[in-house]
Amino acid sequence: MTEKSKRYDLLVQQAQSLLAGEFDLVANMANLVSLVFHELPDLNGTTYYRFVDGELILGPFQGKPACMHIPVGRGVCGTVAATQKPEVVPDVDQFVGHIACDSASRSEVVVPVFRHGSFWGVLDLDSPKLDTFDDVDAKYLSEIAEIIFPENQKES
Ligand code: SME
Repeated sequence: MTEKSKRYDLLVQQAQSLLAGEFDLVANMANLVSLVFHELPDLNGTTYYRFVDGELILGPFQGKPACMHIPVGRGVCGTVAATQKPEVVPDVDQFVGHIACDSASRSEVVVPVFRHGSFWGVLDLDSPKLDTFDDVDAKYLSEIAEIIFPENQKES
């Protein structure tokens, strides 16, 4: 197992412990983005967007103020809303339509969040360094992002 996978296995356990038994989704999103922001290296943003009335709307986040509404198909987050597949962006300047909330962002990963099989929103991580994320990040972050839901909590 790689160092990165080990770190993520620990992060999954930390998220499970932190959110165990709590069913308020705002509280869970708030603590989850804080945990991820402070535990993973090289981040300048961790942001939930919920899918509401056909668009993404800003949820709890860590980092600089972010855009509040993102239409499906716009930017990295809107692309993930359209495809419902993770996007790993090694260089945001090469992603046509990237929305720059924080001009320090250089790379990004966005994963779709599902609840009961339906698209629910996205979790977006930004890095001030190029090429920070890969498919391992996307895989673990997809799991971690859904620990906000009580039915995914191990000790609830
Ligand atoms: N960069 C994102 C916008 C959201 S902020 O980074 C928090 C995008 O292109 O969708």
